[in-house]
Amino acid sequence: MTTPGSGTGAVEVPPTPDGIPFFGNGLAFSRNPVEAMEDWASLGDVVRLQMPGQSMYMVTHPALIKRILADDHDQFTISAAQRETFRGVEDHAVTTTTGDRWERLRKALRPAFTHDALDRYGDRMASTTAAFVDEWNDGERIDLYREMRLLTVNILADTLLDTNVRGNENVVMNAADALVNRANFRRPGQLLPDWVPTLAERRFERTVRALDEFVDEILTQRQRSESNDDVCSVLLTAHEEGKLTLAEVRHNVVALLLAGHDSPSVALTYIWYLLADQPDVCASLREEYDAVVNGEQPSIESYDELERTQNVVVEALRMYPPTLGVSRQTAEPVTLGGYKLPRGAQLLLPQRVVHRDERFWDNPETFDPSRWQNGGDRPEYAYFPFSGGPRNCIGTHFARQELTLALATMIGRIELDISVDGPLRFTPSLQLRPETDMEAIVTRR
Ligand code: HEM
Repeated sequence: MTTPGSGTGAVEVPPTPDGIPFFGNGLAFSRNPVEAMEDWASLGDVVRLQMPGQSMYMVTHPALIKRILADDHDQFTISAAQRETFRGVEDHAVTTTTGDRWERLRKALRPAFTHDALDRYGDRMASTTAAFVDEWNDGERIDLYREMRLLTVNILADTLLDTNVRGNENVVMNAADALVNRANFRRPGQLLPDWVPTLAERRFERTVRALDEFVDEILTQRQRSESNDDVCSVLLTAHEEGKLTLAEVRHNVVALLLAGHDSPSVALTYIWYLLADQPDVCASLREEYDAVVNGEQPSIESYDELERTQNVVVEALRMYPPTLGVSRQTAEPVTLGGYKLPRGAQLLLPQRVVHRDERFWDNPETFDPSRWQNGGDRPEYAYFPFSGGPRNCIGTHFARQELTLALATMIGRIELDISVDGPLRFTPSLQLRPETDMEAIVTRR
Protein backbone atom coordinates (compact mmCIF):
# COMPACT_ATOMS: atom_id res chain seq x y z
CA MET A 1 0.00 0.00 0.00
CA THR A 2 1.51 3.36 -0.96
CA THR A 3 0.99 6.22 1.43
CA PRO A 4 -0.98 8.96 -0.31
CA GLY A 5 0.89 12.18 -0.78
CA SER A 6 4.28 10.62 -0.11
CA GLY A 7 6.95 11.95 -2.39
CA THR A 8 4.98 14.93 -3.62
CA GLY A 9 5.55 18.53 -2.57
CA ALA A 10 2.96 19.66 -0.03
CA VAL A 11 0.28 21.92 -1.50
CA GLU A 12 -2.02 24.14 0.51
CA VAL A 13 -5.63 23.14 0.20
CA PRO A 14 -7.20 19.70 -0.31
CA PRO A 15 -10.13 19.36 -2.72
CA THR A 16 -13.33 20.93 -1.37
CA PRO A 17 -16.77 19.75 -2.46
CA ASP A 18 -19.22 22.39 -3.73
CA GLY A 19 -21.42 23.77 -0.98
CA ILE A 20 -24.06 26.44 -0.62
CA PRO A 21 -23.56 29.92 0.86
CA PHE A 22 -23.52 30.10 4.67
CA PHE A 23 -24.23 26.36 5.21
CA GLY A 24 -21.30 25.18 3.07
CA ASN A 25 -21.36 21.36 3.03
CA GLY A 26 -23.36 21.20 6.28
CA LEU A 27 -26.74 20.97 4.60
CA ALA A 28 -25.84 17.95 2.46
CA PHE A 29 -24.42 16.30 5.56
CA SER A 30 -27.49 16.99 7.68
CA ARG A 31 -29.80 15.65 4.95
CA ASN A 32 -27.98 12.37 4.44
CA PRO A 33 -24.65 12.01 6.28
CA VAL A 34 -23.80 8.65 4.73
CA GLU A 35 -24.42 9.68 1.13
CA ALA A 36 -22.63 13.00 1.66
CA MET A 37 -19.49 11.36 3.11
CA GLU A 38 -19.40 8.80 0.29
CA ASP A 39 -19.66 11.56 -2.35
CA TRP A 40 -16.94 13.65 -0.74
CA ALA A 41 -14.58 10.70 -0.43
CA SER A 42 -14.58 10.34 -4.23
CA LEU A 43 -12.61 13.63 -4.36
CA GLY A 44 -9.58 12.23 -2.53
CA ASP A 45 -8.09 10.73 0.62
CA VAL A 46 -8.09 14.13 2.32
CA VAL A 47 -11.04 16.41 1.61
CA ARG A 48 -11.70 19.83 3.08
CA LEU A 49 -15.29 20.47 4.13
CA GLN A 50 -16.91 23.81 4.81
CA MET A 51 -19.12 23.28 7.83
CA PRO A 52 -21.04 26.18 9.39
CA GLY A 53 -18.48 28.25 11.26
CA GLN A 54 -15.46 26.04 10.58
CA SER A 55 -13.51 23.92 8.11
CA MET A 56 -13.13 20.21 8.65
CA TYR A 57 -10.86 17.70 6.96
CA MET A 58 -12.19 14.23 6.16
CA VAL A 59 -9.45 11.59 5.96
CA THR A 60 -10.21 8.23 4.39
CA HIS A 61 -6.95 6.42 3.61
CA PRO A 62 -5.92 3.67 6.09
CA ALA A 63 -2.24 4.71 6.02
CA LEU A 64 -3.14 8.28 6.98
CA ILE A 65 -5.59 7.07 9.62
CA LYS A 66 -2.87 4.86 11.11
CA ARG A 67 -0.58 7.86 11.26
CA ILE A 68 -3.17 10.03 13.00
CA LEU A 69 -4.37 7.46 15.53
CA ALA A 70 -1.23 5.46 16.20
CA ASP A 71 2.16 6.32 14.67
CA ASP A 72 2.11 10.11 15.18
CA HIS A 73 -0.71 10.29 17.73
CA ASP A 74 1.12 13.02 19.70
CA GLN A 75 0.55 15.41 16.79
CA PHE A 76 -3.22 14.96 17.07
CA THR A 77 -5.46 15.51 20.06
CA ILE A 78 -9.17 15.12 20.76
CA SER A 79 -11.26 17.63 18.89
CA ALA A 80 -12.76 20.84 20.24
CA ALA A 81 -16.11 19.61 18.89
CA GLN A 82 -15.90 16.48 21.05
CA ARG A 83 -15.12 18.47 24.18
CA GLU A 84 -17.94 20.89 23.37
CA THR A 85 -20.45 18.06 22.91
CA PHE A 86 -19.61 16.54 26.31
CA ARG A 87 -19.37 19.90 28.12
CA GLY A 88 -21.13 19.80 31.48
CA VAL A 89 -21.51 16.03 31.29
CA GLU A 90 -18.10 14.38 31.04
CA ASP A 91 -15.60 17.24 31.62
CA HIS A 92 -13.76 15.12 34.21
CA ALA A 93 -13.94 11.85 32.27
CA VAL A 94 -11.56 9.88 30.12
CA THR A 95 -13.56 10.86 27.03
CA THR A 96 -12.70 14.57 27.16
CA THR A 97 -9.37 14.91 28.94
CA THR A 98 -5.85 14.90 27.50
CA GLY A 99 -2.22 14.41 28.55
CA ASP A 100 -1.30 13.19 32.05
CA ARG A 101 -4.82 13.57 33.32
CA TRP A 102 -6.24 11.37 30.57
CA GLU A 103 -3.54 8.75 31.28
CA ARG A 104 -4.40 8.75 34.98
CA LEU A 105 -8.13 8.34 34.28
CA ARG A 106 -7.60 5.66 31.68
CA LYS A 107 -5.33 3.76 34.08
CA ALA A 108 -7.96 3.95 36.81
CA LEU A 109 -10.51 2.30 34.48
CA ARG A 110 -8.22 -0.45 33.25
CA PRO A 111 -8.96 -3.00 36.04
CA ALA A 112 -12.58 -3.08 34.85
CA PHE A 113 -11.51 -4.25 31.36
CA THR A 114 -8.84 -6.88 32.05
CA HIS A 115 -9.09 -10.40 30.68
CA ASP A 116 -10.23 -11.67 34.11
CA ALA A 117 -12.86 -8.97 34.43
CA LEU A 118 -14.22 -9.76 30.95
CA ASP A 119 -14.38 -13.45 31.90
CA ARG A 120 -16.42 -12.50 34.94
CA TYR A 121 -18.91 -10.50 32.85
CA GLY A 122 -19.45 -13.20 30.21
CA ASP A 123 -22.15 -15.26 31.88
CA ARG A 124 -23.99 -12.13 33.01
CA MET A 125 -24.04 -10.76 29.46
CA ALA A 126 -25.91 -13.90 28.40
CA SER A 127 -28.18 -14.21 31.45
CA THR A 128 -29.26 -10.56 31.31
CA THR A 129 -30.08 -10.99 27.62
CA ALA A 130 -32.01 -14.19 28.31
CA ALA A 131 -34.07 -12.59 31.08
CA PHE A 132 -34.70 -9.54 28.87
CA VAL A 133 -35.96 -11.39 25.79
CA ASP A 134 -37.98 -13.75 27.95
CA GLU A 135 -40.18 -10.76 28.75
CA TRP A 136 -41.26 -10.64 25.09
CA ASN A 137 -44.40 -12.63 24.27
CA ASP A 138 -44.81 -14.85 21.26
CA GLY A 139 -46.25 -12.71 18.45
CA GLU A 140 -45.40 -9.42 20.21
CA ARG A 141 -44.42 -6.42 18.07
CA ILE A 142 -41.37 -4.60 19.33
CA ASP A 143 -39.58 -1.38 18.40
CA LEU A 144 -36.25 -3.01 17.58
CA TYR A 145 -33.88 -0.10 18.27
CA ARG A 146 -35.59 0.90 21.50
CA GLU A 147 -35.50 -2.67 22.81
CA MET A 148 -31.81 -3.05 21.90
CA ARG A 149 -31.11 0.15 23.84
CA LEU A 150 -32.98 -1.09 26.90
CA LEU A 151 -31.08 -4.36 26.64
CA THR A 152 -27.63 -2.80 26.42
CA VAL A 153 -28.26 -0.40 29.32
CA ASN A 154 -29.14 -3.44 31.43
CA ILE A 155 -26.14 -5.48 30.28
CA LEU A 156 -23.80 -2.61 31.08
CA ALA A 157 -25.29 -2.00 34.52
CA ASP A 158 -25.47 -5.71 35.44
CA THR A 159 -21.85 -6.36 34.45
CA LEU A 160 -19.65 -3.29 34.88
CA LEU A 161 -21.66 -1.63 37.65
CA ASP A 162 -23.14 -4.74 39.29
CA THR A 163 -26.37 -2.76 39.66
CA ASN A 164 -29.91 -3.56 38.57
CA VAL A 165 -31.41 -0.63 36.62
CA ARG A 166 -34.47 -2.38 35.16
CA GLY A 167 -37.25 0.21 34.94
CA ASN A 168 -34.86 3.18 35.23
CA GLU A 169 -33.16 2.88 31.86
CA ASN A 170 -34.76 6.11 30.62
CA VAL A 171 -32.53 8.21 32.87
CA VAL A 172 -29.51 6.92 30.95
CA MET A 173 -31.16 6.86 27.53
CA ASN A 174 -32.49 10.41 27.86
CA ALA A 175 -29.03 11.73 28.68
CA ALA A 176 -27.56 9.89 25.68
CA ASP A 177 -30.31 11.35 23.48
CA ALA A 178 -29.55 14.83 24.83
CA LEU A 179 -25.88 14.47 23.83
CA VAL A 180 -26.70 13.10 20.39
CA ASN A 181 -29.18 15.92 19.93
CA ARG A 182 -26.63 18.53 21.00
CA ALA A 183 -24.27 17.30 18.27
CA ASN A 184 -27.04 16.76 15.72
CA PHE A 185 -26.51 18.78 12.56
CA ARG A 186 -30.26 19.02 12.12
CA ARG A 187 -30.87 20.55 15.54
CA PRO A 188 -32.60 23.92 15.32
CA GLY A 189 -30.31 26.34 17.14
CA GLN A 190 -27.13 24.54 16.04
CA LEU A 191 -26.21 27.77 14.28
CA LEU A 192 -26.98 30.15 17.16
CA PRO A 193 -24.14 31.63 19.23
CA ASP A 194 -23.46 29.76 22.50
CA TRP A 195 -24.72 32.56 24.74
CA VAL A 196 -28.29 32.34 23.39
CA PRO A 197 -30.10 30.18 25.99
CA THR A 198 -32.34 27.76 24.13
CA LEU A 199 -35.19 25.67 25.46
CA ALA A 200 -33.27 22.61 24.31
CA GLU A 201 -30.24 23.62 26.40
CA ARG A 202 -32.40 23.97 29.52
CA ARG A 203 -33.94 20.56 28.87
CA PHE A 204 -30.43 19.24 28.35
CA GLU A 205 -29.36 20.47 31.78
CA ARG A 206 -32.36 18.85 33.50
CA THR A 207 -31.63 15.53 31.80
CA VAL A 208 -27.97 15.60 32.73
CA ARG A 209 -28.75 16.53 36.32
CA ALA A 210 -31.06 13.49 36.54
CA LEU A 211 -28.25 11.23 35.33
CA ASP A 212 -25.78 12.76 37.81
CA GLU A 213 -28.20 12.10 40.67
CA PHE A 214 -28.76 8.54 39.42
CA VAL A 215 -25.01 7.91 39.34
CA ASP A 216 -24.56 9.46 42.80
CA GLU A 217 -27.17 7.05 44.16
CA ILE A 218 -25.32 4.09 42.64
CA LEU A 219 -22.05 5.34 44.13
CA THR A 220 -23.62 5.77 47.57
CA GLN A 221 -24.95 2.19 47.45
CA ARG A 222 -21.51 0.98 46.42
CA GLN A 223 -19.83 2.79 49.30
CA ARG A 224 -22.04 0.78 51.65
CA SER A 225 -21.61 -2.59 49.92
CA GLU A 226 -19.03 -5.31 50.47
CA SER A 227 -18.34 -5.91 46.77
CA ASN A 228 -15.10 -4.56 45.37
CA ASP A 229 -14.63 -5.69 41.81
CA ASP A 230 -17.25 -3.65 39.92
CA VAL A 231 -16.12 -0.44 38.25
CA CYS A 232 -17.72 1.88 40.84
CA SER A 233 -15.87 0.14 43.69
CA VAL A 234 -12.62 0.25 41.71
CA LEU A 235 -13.02 4.00 41.09
CA LEU A 236 -14.12 4.76 44.65
CA THR A 237 -11.05 2.93 45.99
CA ALA A 238 -8.88 5.04 43.67
CA HIS A 239 -10.63 8.11 45.13
CA GLU A 240 -9.93 6.97 48.72
CA GLU A 241 -6.28 6.50 47.77
CA GLY A 242 -6.21 10.10 46.51
CA LYS A 243 -5.78 9.09 42.86
CA LEU A 244 -9.14 10.43 41.59
CA THR A 245 -11.39 13.30 42.60
CA LEU A 246 -15.05 12.55 43.27
CA ALA A 247 -15.98 14.51 40.11
CA GLU A 248 -13.65 12.23 38.11
CA VAL A 249 -15.28 9.14 39.62
CA ARG A 250 -18.76 10.39 38.78
CA HIS A 251 -17.94 11.55 35.24
CA ASN A 252 -16.15 8.33 34.40
CA VAL A 253 -19.19 6.31 35.46
CA VAL A 254 -21.37 8.64 33.36
CA ALA A 255 -19.02 8.16 30.39
CA LEU A 256 -19.19 4.38 30.73
CA LEU A 257 -22.97 4.37 31.04
CA LEU A 258 -23.36 6.50 27.92
CA ALA A 259 -20.56 5.21 25.66
CA GLY A 260 -21.08 1.68 26.95
CA HIS A 261 -24.71 1.26 25.95
CA ASP A 262 -25.20 3.51 22.95
CA SER A 263 -22.88 2.05 20.32
CA PRO A 264 -23.64 -1.58 21.25
CA SER A 265 -27.38 -0.93 20.87
CA VAL A 266 -26.87 0.62 17.44
CA ALA A 267 -24.69 -2.36 16.50
CA LEU A 268 -27.28 -4.94 17.62
CA THR A 269 -30.00 -3.12 15.68
CA TYR A 270 -27.98 -3.20 12.46
CA ILE A 271 -27.02 -6.83 13.06
CA TRP A 272 -30.72 -7.77 13.13
CA TYR A 273 -31.40 -5.51 10.16
CA LEU A 274 -28.71 -7.28 8.14
CA LEU A 275 -29.89 -10.73 9.23
CA ALA A 276 -33.46 -9.93 8.16
CA ASP A 277 -32.80 -11.01 4.58
CA GLN A 278 -30.15 -13.63 5.32
CA PRO A 279 -32.12 -16.80 6.18
CA ASP A 280 -29.09 -18.98 5.41
CA VAL A 281 -26.85 -17.06 7.78
CA CYS A 282 -29.55 -17.20 10.48
CA ALA A 283 -29.90 -20.95 10.00
CA SER A 284 -26.14 -21.40 10.29
CA LEU A 285 -26.08 -19.30 13.49
CA ARG A 286 -28.83 -21.48 14.98
CA GLU A 287 -26.93 -24.59 13.97
CA GLU A 288 -23.82 -23.23 15.70
CA TYR A 289 -25.85 -22.29 18.76
CA ASP A 290 -27.33 -25.79 19.03
CA ALA A 291 -23.92 -27.40 18.59
CA VAL A 292 -21.98 -25.17 20.97
CA VAL A 293 -24.51 -24.23 23.61
CA ASN A 294 -26.43 -27.48 23.55
CA GLY A 295 -29.56 -26.52 25.47
CA GLU A 296 -27.71 -24.48 28.09
CA GLN A 297 -27.17 -20.72 28.04
CA PRO A 298 -24.18 -19.22 26.17
CA SER A 299 -21.33 -18.67 28.59
CA ILE A 300 -17.85 -17.28 28.60
CA GLU A 301 -16.64 -20.81 27.76
CA SER A 302 -18.77 -20.93 24.61
CA TYR A 303 -17.59 -17.48 23.45
CA ASP A 304 -14.50 -18.69 21.59
CA GLU A 305 -16.44 -21.47 19.91
CA LEU A 306 -19.17 -19.17 18.60
CA GLU A 307 -17.06 -18.40 15.55
CA ARG A 308 -19.85 -17.81 13.06
CA THR A 309 -21.64 -15.52 15.51
CA GLN A 310 -18.41 -13.58 16.04
CA ASN A 311 -17.95 -13.25 12.28
CA VAL A 312 -21.47 -11.87 11.88
CA VAL A 313 -20.73 -9.27 14.57
CA VAL A 314 -17.42 -8.23 13.01
CA GLU A 315 -18.91 -8.02 9.51
CA ALA A 316 -21.91 -6.00 10.73
CA LEU A 317 -19.50 -3.56 12.41
CA ARG A 318 -17.75 -3.24 9.04
CA MET A 319 -20.91 -2.42 7.10
CA TYR A 320 -22.63 -0.39 9.81
CA PRO A 321 -20.02 0.95 12.22
CA PRO A 322 -22.10 2.62 14.95
CA THR A 323 -20.08 5.83 15.21
CA LEU A 324 -20.09 8.56 12.58
CA GLY A 325 -16.31 8.65 12.73
CA VAL A 326 -13.35 9.29 14.97
CA SER A 327 -12.60 12.97 15.46
CA ARG A 328 -9.23 14.60 16.11
CA GLN A 329 -7.60 18.01 15.94
CA THR A 330 -4.05 18.81 14.88
CA ALA A 331 -1.90 19.79 17.88
CA GLU A 332 0.64 21.45 15.57
CA PRO A 333 0.89 22.24 11.84
CA VAL A 334 1.20 18.93 9.95
CA THR A 335 1.54 17.71 6.38
CA LEU A 336 -1.02 15.01 5.68
CA GLY A 337 -1.46 13.25 2.38
CA GLY A 338 0.52 16.02 0.67
CA TYR A 339 -1.50 18.87 2.21
CA LYS A 340 -0.39 21.36 4.82
CA LEU A 341 -2.88 21.54 7.67
CA PRO A 342 -2.70 24.33 10.25
CA ARG A 343 -2.60 23.77 14.02
CA GLY A 344 -6.15 23.25 15.34
CA ALA A 345 -7.51 21.74 12.09
CA GLN A 346 -10.54 19.53 12.80
CA LEU A 347 -10.31 16.01 11.39
CA LEU A 348 -13.02 13.43 10.77
CA LEU A 349 -12.09 9.79 10.10
CA PRO A 350 -15.35 8.16 8.97
CA GLN A 351 -15.26 4.40 9.46
CA ARG A 352 -18.19 3.62 7.22
CA VAL A 353 -16.54 5.15 4.14
CA VAL A 354 -13.24 3.33 4.69
CA HIS A 355 -14.97 0.04 5.54
CA ARG A 356 -16.64 0.09 2.12
CA ASP A 357 -13.73 1.31 0.00
CA GLU A 358 -13.25 -0.96 -3.05
CA ARG A 359 -9.50 -0.37 -2.96
CA PHE A 360 -9.29 -2.37 0.26
CA TRP A 361 -12.29 -4.70 0.23
CA ASP A 362 -13.69 -7.23 -2.24
CA ASN A 363 -17.41 -6.70 -2.80
CA PRO A 364 -17.64 -4.17 0.02
CA GLU A 365 -21.40 -3.75 -0.35
CA THR A 366 -22.01 -7.46 0.27
CA PHE A 367 -22.70 -8.72 3.79
CA ASP A 368 -20.34 -11.67 3.92
CA PRO A 369 -19.39 -12.93 7.40
CA SER A 370 -17.23 -15.62 5.79
CA ARG A 371 -14.67 -12.96 4.77
CA TRP A 372 -13.56 -13.02 8.42
CA GLN A 373 -12.74 -16.71 8.53
CA ASN A 374 -9.13 -17.04 9.66
CA GLY A 375 -9.08 -13.39 10.72
CA GLY A 376 -9.72 -11.81 7.29
CA ASP A 377 -7.21 -10.04 5.08
CA ARG A 378 -7.03 -6.26 4.76
CA PRO A 379 -4.61 -3.35 5.22
CA GLU A 380 -4.19 -2.14 8.78
CA TYR A 381 -6.77 0.56 9.63
CA ALA A 382 -9.03 -0.33 6.70
CA TYR A 383 -11.17 -1.64 9.58
CA PHE A 384 -11.38 0.44 12.75
CA PRO A 385 -14.88 0.47 14.27
CA PHE A 386 -13.30 0.89 17.72
CA SER A 387 -10.71 3.42 16.50
CA GLY A 388 -7.06 2.54 17.20
CA GLY A 389 -3.84 3.61 18.86
CA PRO A 390 -3.50 4.45 22.56
CA ARG A 391 -6.82 6.29 22.70
CA ASN A 392 -8.92 3.54 21.15
CA CYS A 393 -12.23 2.40 22.62
CA ILE A 394 -11.56 1.01 26.09
CA GLY A 395 -14.64 -1.19 25.68
CA THR A 396 -13.48 -2.96 22.47
CA HIS A 397 -13.27 -6.48 23.90
CA PHE A 398 -16.20 -5.91 26.23
CA ALA A 399 -18.34 -4.92 23.24
CA ARG A 400 -17.25 -7.78 20.98
CA GLN A 401 -17.95 -10.28 23.73
CA GLU A 402 -21.25 -8.62 24.64
CA LEU A 403 -22.51 -8.47 21.04
CA THR A 404 -21.56 -12.10 20.39
CA LEU A 405 -23.06 -13.51 23.59
CA ALA A 406 -26.19 -11.34 23.36
CA LEU A 407 -26.74 -12.29 19.71
CA ALA A 408 -26.21 -16.00 20.40
CA THR A 409 -28.60 -15.88 23.37
CA MET A 410 -31.27 -14.20 21.25
CA ILE A 411 -30.72 -16.55 18.30
CA GLY A 412 -31.25 -19.48 20.66
CA ARG A 413 -34.52 -18.18 22.09
CA ILE A 414 -36.35 -16.17 19.44
CA GLU A 415 -36.79 -15.35 15.77
CA LEU A 416 -37.49 -11.80 14.67
CA ASP A 417 -39.54 -10.91 11.61
CA ILE A 418 -38.37 -7.40 10.86
CA SER A 419 -40.15 -4.79 8.79
CA VAL A 420 -38.38 -1.57 7.92
CA ASP A 421 -40.26 1.57 7.00
CA GLY A 422 -38.46 2.60 3.76
CA PRO A 423 -34.74 3.01 3.05
CA LEU A 424 -32.42 3.46 6.03
CA ARG A 425 -31.92 7.01 7.23
CA PHE A 426 -29.31 7.99 9.78
CA THR A 427 -28.95 10.65 12.47
CA PRO A 428 -26.20 13.11 11.45
CA SER A 429 -24.56 13.09 14.87
CA LEU A 430 -22.09 11.20 17.10
CA GLN A 431 -23.58 7.86 16.19
CA LEU A 432 -25.07 6.80 12.89
CA ARG A 433 -28.26 5.89 14.72
CA PRO A 434 -31.09 4.48 12.60
CA GLU A 435 -33.84 7.03 12.04
CA THR A 436 -35.99 4.65 10.04
CA ASP A 437 -38.58 2.80 12.10
CA MET A 438 -37.80 -0.88 12.48
CA GLU A 439 -40.52 -3.04 13.90
CA ALA A 440 -40.05 -6.72 14.68
CA ILE A 441 -42.50 -9.51 15.43
CA VAL A 442 -41.19 -11.99 17.98
CA THR A 443 -41.53 -15.73 17.54
CA ARG A 444 -40.31 -17.81 20.45
CA ARG A 445 -38.23 -20.82 19.48
C1 HEM B 1 -20.03 -1.62 19.27
C2 HEM B 1 -19.63 -1.02 20.36
C3 HEM B 1 -18.69 0.14 20.45
C4 HEM B 1 -18.11 0.90 19.45
C5 HEM B 1 -18.28 0.74 17.94
C6 HEM B 1 -17.28 1.88 20.09
C7 HEM B 1 -16.52 2.82 19.42
C8 HEM B 1 -15.73 3.78 20.04
C9 HEM B 1 -14.96 4.77 19.34
C10 HEM B 1 -14.88 4.92 17.82
C11 HEM B 1 -14.35 5.54 20.28
C12 HEM B 1 -13.47 6.77 20.01
C13 HEM B 1 -12.02 6.45 20.23
C14 HEM B 1 -11.11 7.55 19.74
O1 HEM B 1 -11.40 8.74 19.91
O2 HEM B 1 -10.05 7.20 19.17
C15 HEM B 1 -14.72 5.02 21.58
C16 HEM B 1 -14.28 5.54 22.78
C17 HEM B 1 -14.67 5.07 24.01
N1 HEM B 1 -15.50 4.00 24.26
FE1 HEM B 1 -16.36 2.81 22.87
N2 HEM B 1 -17.38 1.72 21.44
C18 HEM B 1 -18.21 0.67 21.71
C19 HEM B 1 -18.53 0.16 22.95
C20 HEM B 1 -18.07 0.62 24.15
C21 HEM B 1 -18.33 0.03 25.43
C22 HEM B 1 -19.15 -1.24 25.63
C23 HEM B 1 -17.72 0.81 26.37
C24 HEM B 1 -17.67 0.64 27.87
C25 HEM B 1 -18.13 -0.38 28.51
C26 HEM B 1 -17.07 1.90 25.67
C27 HEM B 1 -16.37 2.91 26.29
C28 HEM B 1 -15.64 3.88 25.62
C29 HEM B 1 -14.87 4.91 26.29
C30 HEM B 1 -14.77 5.14 27.79
C31 HEM B 1 -14.25 5.65 25.28
C32 HEM B 1 -13.29 6.84 25.46
C33 HEM B 1 -11.86 6.28 25.49
C34 HEM B 1 -10.78 7.33 25.64
O3 HEM B 1 -10.96 8.47 25.18
O4 HEM B 1 -9.72 7.00 26.22
N3 HEM B 1 -17.29 1.75 24.32
N4 HEM B 1 -15.57 3.95 21.40
